[in-house]
Amino acid sequence: MRISLDLAGHTALVTGAGRRIGAACAEALAGAGARVAVHHQHSGAEAEALCQRITRQGGRAEPFAADLTEATRLPLLLAAVGQRLGRVTILVNNAAIFAPGTLRDTPLTAWQGMLATNLTAPFLLMQAFAQALPPPATGVIINLVDQRVLRPSAGHLAYSVAKSALWQLTQQSALELAPHIRVNAIAPGPILAAAGAAGAAFPQIAAATPLQRPGSPQDIVDALLFLIGHAFITGEMICVDGGEHL
Ligand SMILES: NC(=O)c1ccc[n+]([C@@H]2O[C@H](COP(=O)([O-])OP(=O)(O)OC[C@H]3O[C@@H](n4cnc5c(N)ncnc54)[C@H](OP(=O)(O)O)[C@@H]3O)[C@@H](O)[C@H]2O)c1
Repeated sequence: MRISLDLAGHTALVTGAGRRIGAACAEALAGAGARVAVHHQHSGAEAEALCQRITRQGGRAEPFAADLTEATRLPLLLAAVGQRLGRVTILVNNAAIFAPGTLRDTPLTAWQGMLATNLTAPFLLMQAFAQALPPPATGVIINLVDQRVLRPSAGHLAYSVAKSALWQLTQQSALELAPHIRVNAIAPGPILAAAGAAGAAFPQIAAATPLQRPGSPQDIVDALLFLIGHAFITGEMICVDGGEHL
């Protein structure tokens, strides 16, 4: 499935867009005509290369570096994008950290770091986004969560709690920001093995889903474009997970 969308005149900010799923989202949004802010932290070279590729293809994209745990900088990030690329009308909260941990062994610092990146940063960016888009201006927010919010599994406690809260934040914000700003979520299952992960765990997890295979970043892109383009959907979550949540 390929969704055709005209986003000319829009500016999109995609967090964690230097590589992997975020990069695929940024490239697709640029391909649909949006000016794209490619946010990154450590993947500066990849973000720069992606922006150059988008520019060569006739699009407009610029890299923006920020550590999402620096809460006070986040409204400034949105403002900087606005100054260089125009007011942000599409926000994709993609950046996240994924780390194992149980109730017994999660240190306070790990808990706080997980919530800062995976929950507080999206909250602050959504807040700044909404404040910069007073009615009648319109916009769209897409939050990347995880199918775990529907089917809890042991072993990634802080991550799962942060993503579940982000899904709750998605629904609350959809209510509060309607009708001018729509807020939806995408809940991936096994798309890409965690960066640095080795061994057979990922293929085994993917093979154990109902569709018995991993998805691809393009599967996430398809859901993203669908949710951005569908003007009558808000407060919704699409699982792109091969049925894993079942
Ligand atoms: N991969 C999957 O199969 C899967 C499954 C379920 C859910 N998801 C969700 O889908 C989204 C994308 O997944 P992914 O695997 O592509 O993500 P990822 O590679 O694990 O992370 C995406 C980016 O987040 C950025 N990031 C992390 N901490 C940051 C911080 N403090 N400040 C700024 N940026 C930070 C990193 O940017 P830099 O590299 O620039 O540092 C990283 O490249 C995530 O929200 C993830 O939770 C993915």
